[in-house]
Amino acid sequence: MKLFSFFKQELAIDLGTANTLIIQDGQVVVDEPSIVAINRRTMETIAVGNKAMQMHEKTHEEIKTIRPLKDGVIADFQAAESMIEGMIKMIGAKRRFFSHLKMVICIPSGITEVEKRAVFDSADHVDSKETYLIHEPMAAALGIGLDVEEPIGNMIIDIGGGTTEIAVIALSGIVCDQSIRTAGDEFTADIMSYMKRQHNVLIGERTAEQIKIHVGSALHELETPPEDYAVNGRDLMTGIPKQIKVSYSEIAHCLDKSISKIEDAVLRALETTPPELASDIYRTGLYLTGGGALLRGLDIRIAQKTKLDVHIAEDPLRAVVRGTGIALKNTDRFSFLIDRKSV
Ligand SMILES: Nc1ncnc2c1ncn2[C@@H]1O[C@H](COP(=O)(O)OP(=O)(O)OP(=O)(O)O)[C@@H](O)[C@H]1O
Ligand SMILES: [Mg+2]
Repeated sequence: MKLFSFFKQELAIDLGTANTLIIQDGQVVVDEPSIVAINRRTMETIAVGNKAMQMHEKTHEEIKTIRPLKDGVIADFQAAESMIEGMIKMIGAKRRFFSHLKMVICIPSGITEVEKRAVFDSADHVDSKETYLIHEPMAAALGIGLDVEEPIGNMIIDIGGGTTEIAVIALSGIVCDQSIRTAGDEFTADIMSYMKRQHNVLIGERTAEQIKIHVGSALHELETPPEDYAVNGRDLMTGIPKQIKVSYSEIAHCLDKSISKIEDAVLRALETTPPELASDIYRTGLYLTGGGALLRGLDIRIAQKTKLDVHIAEDPLRAVVRGTGIALKNTDRFSFLIDRKSV
């Protein structure tokens, strides 16, 4: 038995729009941005993850950086495959000793059959012998530590890079869900266009993301406000690089519309929740996860809007992969896992 398990490699993968994480033997072994850099001429992969991100928006003619996922689903299959392959390679050269690869991959709840098949195909390409898919809100719930098999309703709000997924989970299933394409990437885009409009400064995606992390806010007034953040960009008028300072209240103002869209989706999800489950949620509150859960004041803002308790998951960027890891250990028990035959 021991010998057999030596030849087995089991991986749980959260293939996200912004970040890809892999768990092996209960440990996070890969946590990298979902991006690849390729040579335009030879189509060779030059770098994946962090290394490719360092090249992003700084490339010359020969190099192209690609984020293979958009809105939570694979938009560029070839790039996605080389990204998955590259990240599995990062785990170590040990790979070739393992004859049996088993994977559980997390997918958004709104994914189509065709998109599911594409994920299975990517898994085949890296030689996975046994592949299962799990819906992201289910993985998030498991990762938060909720008992998803109980006849008790829990609402999960997962704000990632590409999608915000809101789901009510009970009895090992998703009872109702809302998936919208407003999430972290849109916040970043809001900041880029605000800087251009308001300050006449052009900034790149990475700078906008740094602004979001340093002074991003869902509330116009915060109890413990962050210090103003100095931003370098290119002046639209003169074309010369310049520096300006931005405050959190400015960013709260520019994110307002996108956050309202998330609030509306939460309200719609609550409206479609069957009454018995709604009564559970009244007691348990809402669980926020995904990188967007880290936006200052977002929990308070959603709590004010819904008059419900809002809990932020511990380490929200890793809840989904942790849950996928739990699913990996229980593939014979969890009926909600999707196998190849059912697609
Ligand atoms: N401190 C922070 N404040 C605000 N946003 C943050 C913070 N840290 C990370 N983010 C944002 O969270 C997003 C990434 O979250 P996450 O890793 O959960 O997404 P993902 O799983 O890759 O995407 P998806 O689930 O949509 O496919 C990015 O848009 C990132 O900018
Ligand atoms: Mg995610």
